Amino acid sequence: MFVPGLIERKRDGGSLTTAEWRELLTQYAAGRVPDYQISALLMACFLRGLAREETAGLLDGMMASGGRLDLSQLGKPVVDKHSIGGVGDKVSLVLAPLVAACDALVPMMSGRGLGHTGGTLDKLESIPGFRTGLSLEETKAQLAKIGCAMIGQTPEIAPVDKKLYALRDVTATVECIPLISASIMSKKLSEGLNGLVLDVKLGSGAFITDPEKSRELAETMIRLGEDRGCPTVALLTAMDRPLGRACGNALEAEEAINALKGEGPEDLHDVTIAEGVEMLLLARMIAPSAKSRAALAAELETAITSGRAAERFQQIIEAQGGNPAAVDDPAILPQAPVVEVFAASRAGIVQQVEPRAIGKAVVQMGGGRQKVDDVVDPTVGMVISARPGAKVEKGEPLASIYARDEAGALLARKALQGSIVIGDRQPAITALIAARVSAKGYETLG
Ligand code: URA
Repeated sequence: MFVPGLIERKRDGGSLTTAEWRELLTQYAAGRVPDYQISALLMACFLRGLAREETAGLLDGMMASGGRLDLSQLGKPVVDKHSIGGVGDKVSLVLAPLVAACDALVPMMSGRGLGHTGGTLDKLESIPGFRTGLSLEETKAQLAKIGCAMIGQTPEIAPVDKKLYALRDVTATVECIPLISASIMSKKLSEGLNGLVLDVKLGSGAFITDPEKSRELAETMIRLGEDRGCPTVALLTAMDRPLGRACGNALEAEEAINALKGEGPEDLHDVTIAEGVEMLLLARMIAPSAKSRAALAAELETAITSGRAAERFQQIIEAQGGNPAAVDDPAILPQAPVVEVFAASRAGIVQQVEPRAIGKAVVQMGGGRQKVDDVVDPTVGMVISARPGAKVEKGEPLASIYARDEAGALLARKALQGSIVIGDRQPAITALIAARVSAKGYETLG
């Protein structure tokens, strides 16, 4: 295979065939093509784009680099959810056990924090002992036993994505819709799903901040899923403010545990139920209607109020080596040594709580990685009670800061000063769940 010829063709606006992608990625996964040639090709893809057929060829090549989870013998529908990532987005921690408690299998494979956004794996690992590196065999056994596993990418699932992603991260080629779509879908479709729900974020805290592009991303992934026999639905949700209150790994794990007991913030609860309804519609192959939605939402609510959802999370934690007592007593989670209150500098109405600055500050405080080998501090972050549209008095607490030292607290204070804007008018609040996208089209909700 003459790789410079492929790079040249892509550079000049041509495309690679499915067979070429497959061969190239097989050779790359085997270490027979160097990173510098793939880097050049990725940049050509970034600049030239990939048409629908070529994106599908790339996806198929990526999936062919690994195996596929086959859960068909377990006799239950298999569904999952993927979020494009945001600030304070801990929905996966609540949703996976909740949907599993409603009798679907959820092989939730997630990622680590990326850029200014947190990652499900880092949040789970803030629970003492929690192990996310299960093998495919262990994952299968756990799914058979308790219906849910919450794991990282295994070496067996689309292994070439891991290499490509690491390369994209350091060659400024992440923000490219076909590359993002093929990357996400290569992992999700390798889980052998009967249905997939995507949470595509809208707003300044999202990776893609142009709403048109968010829609394009959702539509691209839906097409890839549907063409491969996996019914796929996306909800477009607000990320112009953090989701829930907690931002930071252990703080988010605690908020997720509270949500599983029905004691979480309303926006987190609403997004979780909306995505849970979509997952159950796909799992049970029920046509979406007001009636079916209401019935499934009630079922999810019952799983929370009866304690079954929290109990399921406890089983998952225990099965994955963590301390299940964290569900009954979140004080077991690691705690930051420095805690301080951030108060309003004036009276007025909260205009904005800008999420990107908050996400970046959490990373800088030690809650995320600035270099690949950085060790994440699970304790740090902020819990922000201020919501856009709320009336506040001067001196009223707007947030709590959790830091490992005074320097970290200062970073948080500065970020909150810039991010929480207080004014005098009632601001326009964007809809929490703005739209639903499926193979049938785009539906405005909010
Ligand atoms: N998440 C992924 O898994 N891949 C991307 O390319 C972007 C976000």
